[in-house]
Amino acid sequence: MLTDRFGRAIEYLRLSVTDRCDLRCSYCMPKGFKGFEEPRHWLSFDEIERVVRAFARLGLHRIRLTGGEPLLRKNLHELAARISAIPGMTDLSLSTNGTQLEKQVRALRTAGVTRLNVSLDSLDPSRFAAITNRDVLDRVLRGLIAAREEGFGPIKINMVAMAGVTDEEIDAMVAFCIEQRFVLRLIEVMPVGNTGRNTASMELGPTQERLRARFGLIDGIVPGAGPARYLVSRDGRFQIGFITPISQHFCETCNRVRLGVDGVLHLCLGQNDTVDVRTLLRTGCTDDQLEALLREAIQRKPLRHEFREQPARVVRFMSSIGG
Ligand code: 5AD
Ligand code: SF4
Repeated sequence: MLTDRFGRAIEYLRLSVTDRCDLRCSYCMPKGFKGFEEPRHWLSFDEIERVVRAFARLGLHRIRLTGGEPLLRKNLHELAARISAIPGMTDLSLSTNGTQLEKQVRALRTAGVTRLNVSLDSLDPSRFAAITNRDVLDRVLRGLIAAREEGFGPIKINMVAMAGVTDEEIDAMVAFCIEQRFVLRLIEVMPVGNTGRNTASMELGPTQERLRARFGLIDGIVPGAGPARYLVSRDGRFQIGFITPISQHFCETCNRVRLGVDGVLHLCLGQNDTVDVRTLLRTGCTDDQLEALLREAIQRKPLRHEFREQPARVVRFMSSIGG
């Protein structure tokens, strides 16, 4: 097992396969953003597979494909199939904005992706367009239905809670997810990039207690690798998670690192500690050298984020390495 300086087992890699996106969610990427990574710096599927195999030998066994919008990376299903085939992998999941899902669900499922998280902040077409800068709510909803029909489960909806923007829609989203059998997760905005910092955040504690009472929910446990705390309906059929990096951080149980499309390993979402893996990969390293670099990198994982104490610290945008 890979263990960091603080005794945390690192078993989960979030793999960003592109930093591009077809949406421009206001809290994530600025309108008119041009600072994308050059294609020659993108790790190839061969390079990604090599890094994942090295991690797997060190005991890491869960992968999430993310972005930017991962479904914009050409032939993503081929990479998914290659990762699924690596010995020791127990879990391959995908985070997507859903716009390309309808076309790709079948290939993704065949490739061994088992769990899906879809970002969906609003069910109102004009509010959806105002948040994402594109009028494509219908496509996302079609993608969700297609994913359910394809047998993906659980399908989780990620909704960013924004004061004055999506707060009044939380109850409607709960009702939608109960009806459609999706797991809902509410997320507190993180001050990642000036986009994140300029978004009116809200602490989710009061919302959690309100929803508990209104929908008759009780504390529950839902499998997954992440930090959400869940409420569930009494019959167990509806589940809602609260991801509260700001009001109640969960760094002591952090189990993950993130690899950018440029081959830079990010040890913490809320810090700037990184290790460049691409340079070593491209200078013809041995597997032993690669594993040694990954082991050393894990030793540099910070104790915790400091979103409250140092809200201006992270200047990169969320789209560069996913959430
Ligand atoms: N704070 C919280 N969540 C964010 N996401 C993107 N930017 C932020 C931010 N600043 C969310 C997306 C998506 C997930 C991957 O991260 O909405 O659901
Ligand atoms: Fe794209 Fe996701 Fe960022 Fe929205 S939050 S702009 S869908 S990467």
